[in-house]
Amino acid sequence: MEIEFRDLKRQYKNIKKEVDEQINSVIESSHFISGSQVKELELELAEYVGRKHCITCANGTDAISIALMAAGIGEQGGGSKEDVVFVPDFTFFSSGECPATVGATPVFVDVYKNTYNMDVQKLECAVEKVISEGKYTPKAVIAVDLFGQPFEYEAVRALCDKYDMLLLEDAAQGFGGEYTLNDGRKKRAGSLGNISTTSFFPAKPLGCYGDGGAIFTDDDKLATLCRSIAVHGKDMEHPDDPNAKYNNIRLGMNSRLDTIQAGILLAKLKVFKETELIAVNHVAERYTKNLSDIPGVILPIIGDKFYSSWAQFTLQLPAGTKRSEIQKTLKAEGIPTNIYYIKPMHKQGAFVGTRSSEADCTVTEELCDSVLCLPIHPYLKDDEIDFVCQKFKEAIK
Ligand SMILES: Cc1ncc(COP(=O)(O)O)c(C=O)c1O
Repeated sequence: MEIEFRDLKRQYKNIKKEVDEQINSVIESSHFISGSQVKELELELAEYVGRKHCITCANGTDAISIALMAAGIGEQGGGSKEDVVFVPDFTFFSSGECPATVGATPVFVDVYKNTYNMDVQKLECAVEKVISEGKYTPKAVIAVDLFGQPFEYEAVRALCDKYDMLLLEDAAQGFGGEYTLNDGRKKRAGSLGNISTTSFFPAKPLGCYGDGGAIFTDDDKLATLCRSIAVHGKDMEHPDDPNAKYNNIRLGMNSRLDTIQAGILLAKLKVFKETELIAVNHVAERYTKNLSDIPGVILPIIGDKFYSSWAQFTLQLPAGTKRSEIQKTLKAEGIPTNIYYIKPMHKQGAFVGTRSSEADCTVTEELCDSVLCLPIHPYLKDDEIDFVCQKFKEAIK
């Protein structure tokens, strides 16, 4: 059996007609940049996520940088190098790269062993430590919805309020996930930060056929700033001015979502909402049921208040397991696996010698040595899931 880690070919077969129609319509219109599909998608995404504004852009990395700049954080945003942005130590590089590239200082915080998301108590300790050092100012938290499960929203929100910090949600992996508030209301990933970002990288829960990203907020001022920064700092404050297009009132970047990608996403969003989220949750449930009796293996834990969009199915292997041997054995059976993530952020070479390399993140260090991600996507069939489980059980013996 040959299994795809994320089977985009199978997905395309399922929605070929709708995707091809969208692509052809963009080519025929020749509106490759800022065509009508971009606005249409932004409206649909904002409605789905439950936010006033959606601003699409070129990728999920730009989305974080634009959001930080719009919030005035780091030298590029008009702030300073001493602006601290707290980021989980266990995440994709962009979450920590962006605060540094906009000229702020990322400080890395350990995560919970069971959910992989930022540990709120350790976040408060990190904030207090930064304050006590006297040199830096806590400005923002980037809370990541890792592997598809939203972060501990209410607890992080309370800390951000207590220390007057911006809450930026990195929902690159969380799009489609949900958090249930204490009062029972549900909030979708992408609506959990003062400003939230996502990625449409092809393998993400909602992916396009190239790079793409989006920013979500309810704040009119932040939204206008993000739109401006994403298009060369163009004057967006005077939309009726015919000369506004070439009136660049701040430094920005060229970060637009191509119209073709917007068209593809319109087709994919429909099936994502109607069937894919349910299907991928079925895959995760079947994995969990099949793998629950292996001594020492820790399966993903989704808390009562959470709904995951399952960007990854990440388990922890027992201490002493030869992870590379397991991967080799599974590969020989046609089963691809990945390790997200193999290195804590604070140990990345880019941060050597900076304040960002100072972190006490023992859980992350342990996870980097023990995690393994199995194939997961909405088109994985039951017999394939059972095959992966059987071969995994044999390999771990
Ligand atoms: C948590 C997280 N943040 C940010 C990004 C960056 O998104 P992109 O690849 O679209 O720039 C990714 C993508 O892998 C991610 O997983």
